[in-house]
Amino acid sequence: MATAAPLIVILAAGKGTRMKSALPKVLHKVAGRSMLGHVLALASTVPGATIAVVVGPGMDEVRAEVSRLAPAARVFVQENQSGTADAVLAARPALDGHSGDVIVLYADTPLIEAGTLSALGDALDAGSGVAVLGFEARDPTGYGRLITVGETTLLAIREHKDSSPEERKITLCNSGVLAFRLPDLLGVLTRIGNANSKGEYYLTDAVEIARADGARAAVVRCPEDEVLGVNSRSQLAVAERIWQDRARQKVMDEGATLTAPETVFLSYDTVIGSDVIIEPHVVFGPGVTVADGAEIKAFCHFEGARIGPGARIGPYARLRPGASLGPDVHIGNFVEVKNVTVGPGAKANHLAYLGDGSVGAGANIGAGTIFCNYDGFFKHKTEIGEGAFIGSNSSLVAPIKIGDGAYVGSGSVITKDVASGALALERATQEERPQWAAKFREMMSRRKAAKSK
Ligand code: UD1
Ligand code: MG
Repeated sequence: MATAAPLIVILAAGKGTRMKSALPKVLHKVAGRSMLGHVLALASTVPGATIAVVVGPGMDEVRAEVSRLAPAARVFVQENQSGTADAVLAARPALDGHSGDVIVLYADTPLIEAGTLSALGDALDAGSGVAVLGFEARDPTGYGRLITVGETTLLAIREHKDSSPEERKITLCNSGVLAFRLPDLLGVLTRIGNANSKGEYYLTDAVEIARADGARAAVVRCPEDEVLGVNSRSQLAVAERIWQDRARQKVMDEGATLTAPETVFLSYDTVIGSDVIIEPHVVFGPGVTVADGAEIKAFCHFEGARIGPGARIGPYARLRPGASLGPDVHIGNFVEVKNVTVGPGAKANHLAYLGDGSVGAGANIGAGTIFCNYDGFFKHKTEIGEGAFIGSNSSLVAPIKIGDGAYVGSGSVITKDVASGALALERATQEERPQWAAKFREMMSRRKAAKSK
């Protein structure tokens, strides 16, 4: 085992020109989280690791993302993008005096799994000084080729541009992920030169230099899908697809039914219980938890919401941040819930807006009910008691409280609190004129006949 905690250096200095974006490449999202966020999450699975992120000049947004997600990580600036070895050396203050393993990750390679990274550590434990994550490339063009003997022994990495026609036939490629357990990694890195076709300092040259010093180098293989690097929007979409396929599989393996898994979109942090049924075309934004036995009907959109056990949601429901639904709640078609706690068994089955407030257990919210939560300046709360019944097409003008078991007559605009057990009605008294319809028809028919003469 390594003697000290590992240092993980995440390279994020690339400009990402091909994204054609004002946003730095590594902040583009896969499954609702930045690619950098995915890589920071991977780094956090390595026990005791300290993290260094290398950014380009002026990448303040990247810096901000690092301090938001990994406040303990140190950020270093690589002034000139002169190669991956130079990028690692930008983190020199973190490397100085560091005696544990060093792992290099790319911030634009968001799909690597924790198990794969630990396999790299195993290769170091087995006696290698350098371990490189390799993959069989469908199309190896552009990648560094791994020159090996036997299954695992690595002799060198040859960059595409610098390789011979023979070497270019090699399909085993460098993912970019490397791990080092060397007595003097800095000594190796500072010996790397730039006499190559790109005039760059290649981190991959560390393999040959370390071997010349007597270290062993090994390759650890992983599927190509895991090491997809994102350079363009279409590769971002491929990464999203791979991520979604994996997540859907995991959700199903854990006991949820997805009728048409290819139409369900999950987020990096979606939690789905067992015996949950999810119909086609459901989108989970970040921060959603679904408890056991809930049923999600087709065409729903969720974000920042908690769905209780046995709840029945949709079709066509929208749950926004702060929607917290208790057990057996029913939220039906075209109902939007935002920042509302809904008690056990409560129902809002059709066409309603529930924004800011609470609904007591067993309450029934009729079709067309609106929580009028916003006065153009401030948001206000609507609090509905247990077992209350809100008649259809009611407007509840917040701030407002409807007591336990109270009734609101349909069509009411409620502006004052309603006591428990009371009926509140706010509408004109109904008038009825007997035999009126026949007289009316007769009169109108006469008028029409007079006009057509
Ligand atoms: C690199 C590897 C190659 C590997 C490939 C996998 C080297 C020399 N080559 O090539 O063997 O097959 O990745 O995708 O390492 N970066 C910096 N500063 C720099 C240069 C790069 O931070 O000065 C970062 C980039 O933002 C990127 C990563 O390092 O995240 C890789 O750089 P890139 O230029 O894409 O290297 P490749 O030529 O693709
Ligand atoms: Mg690249």
